[in-house]
Amino acid sequence: MAASPQAAGELIQSAPTAYRVAAAARRAPFGTLAHPLPIIIDSDPGLDDALAIALAVARPELNVLAVTTVGGNAEVRHCTLNALGLLHAYGRSDIPVAEGAAGPVLGEIVRATEVHGETGIGNTRLEPSPVAVQREGAVALMARLLRTHAQPVTIVPIGPLTNIALLLKLHPELAPRIAHLCLMGGSIGEGNATVSGEFNIYADPEAADIVFRSGVPITMIGLDVTHQALLDRDSVVALRALGRASARIAAELTAYALDRNMEWSGSATTAIHDAVAVAHLAIPGLVAVAPYHVAVDITAGPCRGRTVCDGMPRRLARTGRAATTDVGIHIDRARFERLLLDAFSSLP
Ligand code: BDR
Ligand code: CA
Repeated sequence: MAASPQAAGELIQSAPTAYRVAAAARRAPFGTLAHPLPIIIDSDPGLDDALAIALAVARPELNVLAVTTVGGNAEVRHCTLNALGLLHAYGRSDIPVAEGAAGPVLGEIVRATEVHGETGIGNTRLEPSPVAVQREGAVALMARLLRTHAQPVTIVPIGPLTNIALLLKLHPELAPRIAHLCLMGGSIGEGNATVSGEFNIYADPEAADIVFRSGVPITMIGLDVTHQALLDRDSVVALRALGRASARIAAELTAYALDRNMEWSGSATTAIHDAVAVAHLAIPGLVAVAPYHVAVDITAGPCRGRTVCDGMPRRLARTGRAATTDVGIHIDRARFERLLLDAFSSLP
């Protein structure tokens, strides 16, 4: 296994806590050339989702069995068309796409169209896929793949967790067939949808609560690490310079995200959140993680959707809780950017 940015036990200086946090050995599986990791991506594409899906199909260490969609950044019907169009652009229309939940299990629908645009992919128009969405829904497709695949399957949720909660409630017997949930969502520190809530958790806190309580092994790739996984204007130039159709799409999506970020926060970079969850499964030494107990705030107050992350051993021991979730803490930005550029240099 490649060395992690922080070897296990080494203190992580960028950890957003008052106490000292040490890197730990990862618990998420990872794929290799000899044994590609079977994964299902559950997504709401989405600007950064689009790059995450590209990375997943480009990496030979991963075997993408399906892409399922969920309402999140945009209406689910847009997300589904985007997933189909993106896979077509990436030359992988053979990967089935199934549509999932339009809105959260409880509460109001929350969208991120002010960031991702009304259709979820900014102003980009994709060539329609020649392939139709699956007749079975997202949860049915996930259940079928979990039941029939030769080995347990890792799920990569990079949108609100509605489909995953429904899967666990409708098919509890399949939980042991989920090798791992490597999800983008949450934050030890500040949120983005609200001060407390990161978008994917805030958009369906009750679903996230079900998932984090399920006992399925989870890696949480939250804002603490994804805000280190940045692209900028130079990255857009580098993507365009690859001279490939899918890289041009990625350049356009990234440029749109950079404009929105400049408007919102005055920042000249944009975080490619969702691609970090995919990268963690393909490249074992890229993301440093530390173990936490994660609880989701489902109250109606200002902390709704917050992931309350406790990694302090003495506090955990005192309250009898266990640090069962790996939380992403650190990533090498330059290496992450190279990984994305490499991915697009191998796509059509
Ligand atoms: C997450 O929210 C969405 O807007 C992005 O696609 C990502 O999954 C980041 O908070
Ligand atoms: Ca997303």
